[in-house]
Amino acid sequence: MQHDLYDILKKAPQSYWLTPPEQPDYEKLTGDLSAEVAIIGGGIAGITLAYLLYKEGLRPVVLEANRILFGTTGHTTAKITSQHDLIYDRITTQFNKDFARQYAAANESAIREIENNVRELGIDCDFKPESAFVFAREEANIPKIHAEVKAASELGIKAEYVESIPFSIPIKAGVRFDNQAQFHPRKYLLALAKYIAEKGCSIYERSPVVDLEEADGVYTLKTAGGSKVRARTVVIASHYPFFNKAGMYFARLYVERSYIIAVRTREEYPGGMYIGLEEPVRSLRSQMSGEGMLTLVGGASHKSGQAEDTRAYYRALIDFAARHFTVEDIPFHWSAQDCMTLDGLPYVGHFTSDMPGLYVATGFGKWGMTNATASAMLIRDQITRGRSEWEDVYDPSRFDLAASVKNMVVQNANVAVNLVKGKLEPLPEDEDLAPGEGKVVERDGRRAGVYKDEAGKLHIVDTTCTHMGCELNWNSAEKSWDCPCHGSRFSYDGEVIEGPAVRPLNSGKSVNTFAKLFKDEF
Ligand code: FES
Repeated sequence: MQHDLYDILKKAPQSYWLTPPEQPDYEKLTGDLSAEVAIIGGGIAGITLAYLLYKEGLRPVVLEANRILFGTTGHTTAKITSQHDLIYDRITTQFNKDFARQYAAANESAIREIENNVRELGIDCDFKPESAFVFAREEANIPKIHAEVKAASELGIKAEYVESIPFSIPIKAGVRFDNQAQFHPRKYLLALAKYIAEKGCSIYERSPVVDLEEADGVYTLKTAGGSKVRARTVVIASHYPFFNKAGMYFARLYVERSYIIAVRTREEYPGGMYIGLEEPVRSLRSQMSGEGMLTLVGGASHKSGQAEDTRAYYRALIDFAARHFTVEDIPFHWSAQDCMTLDGLPYVGHFTSDMPGLYVATGFGKWGMTNATASAMLIRDQITRGRSEWEDVYDPSRFDLAASVKNMVVQNANVAVNLVKGKLEPLPEDEDLAPGEGKVVERDGRRAGVYKDEAGKLHIVDTTCTHMGCELNWNSAEKSWDCPCHGSRFSYDGEVIEGPAVRPLNSGKSVNTFAKLFKDEF
């Protein structure tokens, strides 16, 4: 049975959220313009912020590199919850109770904000109130669950200690948060985008911003197509910040990839949203689809660009699902990429202290629905009122060095290795490639990435990442070139799928020399 289920991996990954409804095409920016506020990134943070600023009387412009909502927002588990693993006891202990209070208020407010927007605009997006659970399978972690119940309750969150969950997963303890929710993120955000576009806000797709300069308090954004956008207020909400001339974000963010399968089961889903505490982490929620109820099984993460065989992570989720459910079908499987910060709290607010008017929202960890919505509310308040009551805990310049330096060393130590690894290591002799496979090859001191498509055509790219020069690895499940340093991803023919890189890989004619070197090999 499990062997048959693995057959789904022969299909290309497809996120359930990116199935119909189709979305309208927003035009590509051509020509120059000036804006009150320019928002870079059309994911949940950027679109929500544009909506909130419109309600404050502003007319922001959104610049999206590809299609809006097709990045991390289109690949999430879409849990709307303030329960982010066991975070409240950790913030209270690692920072202070005031930070924990701010974080709880921000994320609880984000749940209510989404709920209010759904109601006000009458959005049909499968919004459904649910309880959220973190469960521990090991006895040694029972005290941590008790501590979280206590910490969250003291912050005003309705948290309960539980001893079981309605699955065949043996647990020792758990914590339940009530008044949480789930939804279809793209349906929700498409409605916000349509609303603001009809009211005169501009959304541009396929308009990647590749540079940012400041003069006399005005920022000039340059797009890959040569257009310029001038604005005194700019928000970088592009998941991983593309701008690396200030702020050192590349040294204090790392990127993780995790996996989701959508399973049709014989058992009825009992309700609720769940996540395990111990490795390997497993996450569960339901989603009603046009063809019945789906159980979304998530987990199995690794640092982006640093897995030998990414299909193994899907297989682990399939095994888990088959152990705990009678699996009838797995119609969708996909993966997501998340930006992680060194101390586990997002970076939201002023990009740096000496670039007034420039804001950032990044590092939401795996909790982007509420953290992104809270970020939009926070930056709205900073832009329109000068400050936010949550800005201290999210401050990108907070740096509790005691908490972060150790992490910085651990998480980014391998970046330097990856910068040079591919260039110095001898590569094995090439073998023939099967259709649908890719690999890094080397001849005469030249290194290149080669992918053979199903028709047998070779696609050859230069595997040096256009962000900061790390060497890319082949991702067999997603058929992409992934960067092990900061998580940029490129299609098999070199187009940017995910930043921070903004420029495509050298490929096609520009690597003709590689093509000549390799053409006799396959
Ligand atoms: Fe930074 Fe590739 S993403 S070097």
